Amino acid sequence: MKKDLNISLLPGDGIGKEISNQALKILEWISKKFDFNLNLTEELVGGASIDKLGTPLSDKTLGRIKKSDAIILGAVGGPKWEGLKFEKRPERGLLKIRKELDLFANFRPALVFDPLIESSSLKPEIIKGLDILLIRELTGGIYFGEPRGIKKISEEKYKGFNTLVYYTNEIKRIAEVAFETAMTRSKKLCSVDKANVLESTELWRNVMIECSQNYPEVELSHMYVDNASMQLVRDPKQFDVIVTTNMFGDILSDCASMLTGSLGMLPSASVGVSENGERKAMYEPVHGSAPDIAGKNIANPLAMILSVSMMFKYSFENETISTLINDAVESVLKKGFRTRDILSKNDLILSTDEMGEKVLEELKQ
Ligand code: IPM
Ligand code: MG
Repeated sequence: MKKDLNISLLPGDGIGKEISNQALKILEWISKKFDFNLNLTEELVGGASIDKLGTPLSDKTLGRIKKSDAIILGAVGGPKWEGLKFEKRPERGLLKIRKELDLFANFRPALVFDPLIESSSLKPEIIKGLDILLIRELTGGIYFGEPRGIKKISEEKYKGFNTLVYYTNEIKRIAEVAFETAMTRSKKLCSVDKANVLESTELWRNVMIECSQNYPEVELSHMYVDNASMQLVRDPKQFDVIVTTNMFGDILSDCASMLTGSLGMLPSASVGVSENGERKAMYEPVHGSAPDIAGKNIANPLAMILSVSMMFKYSFENETISTLINDAVESVLKKGFRTRDILSKNDLILSTDEMGEKVLEELKQ
């Protein structure tokens, strides 16, 4: 087990800073308690970087974060930067990290904590005990496919276009991650595509089927994305591990998050392998920068704190600490403490800071 934790913290924009502060509290306490050397550097990304450096991610920042063991990111974006040219927007900073570090496997667990059953918009019996893991391909597909752009055809006519491209090797590596993950869970894997309409996802399906030969114990099923979105809301517990393309994963993970009560509860890990075979990874909440509530100290920091838990599991291979954090979050919820987004009657409303403190108190016990 590593004793040095070299971590880059990128708070980003909007509520990013507030929730990152809570992650930091937890991290500092854990490193003291378990005797780690926490070597943490704060870096700029997104709008915060645009304002200071004129670019959503500077090459210097990229160089530094490439060397760290793990990256923790808050959120990027906001109305302030929406008018900017595409390449200059905050989101490009995040996408550049994913691409440059080749973080191709994105894990988005949707887990329903018992005390939060009432916060979901779905009936308790539909979501009680829900535990889905969505694996999203993160560095290919329509997000990065060429050609792309907006082209002027005539005075009044423009053409906007993006390309959904997948290469066999890109599908194969995410398939392997998905099958390996399914092997550690209930051995059920559902691959989501749109193979009835899109050739690139027909290839996706074929590669999934080919890969399944190596995992005879895993029960592989296929679902079209439109059906999958409907099934997620109708009967989410039919799923265990879902694997899907970059854009379908983006959409389905927002949907899956609401099953758990709030987008503010969903952590994520984006994992890749560097040239020297070491694991590279970034941890971030699935929710965005929520500019409407930024600076008000009311955002839910739990997705961020749970992302730290994922970091201990995936980057530092320490399930004990990961479980400790998850349990602390669950205890806080059991005691009725809530941020506004997960409030139901009789709960005690906490601010972002207070929620961070409560989780810390729980950890200390
Ligand atoms: C996500 C976000 C990002 C994405 C944005 C901020 C670029 O929605 O991580 O789900 O589309 O991947
Ligand atoms: Mg998204």
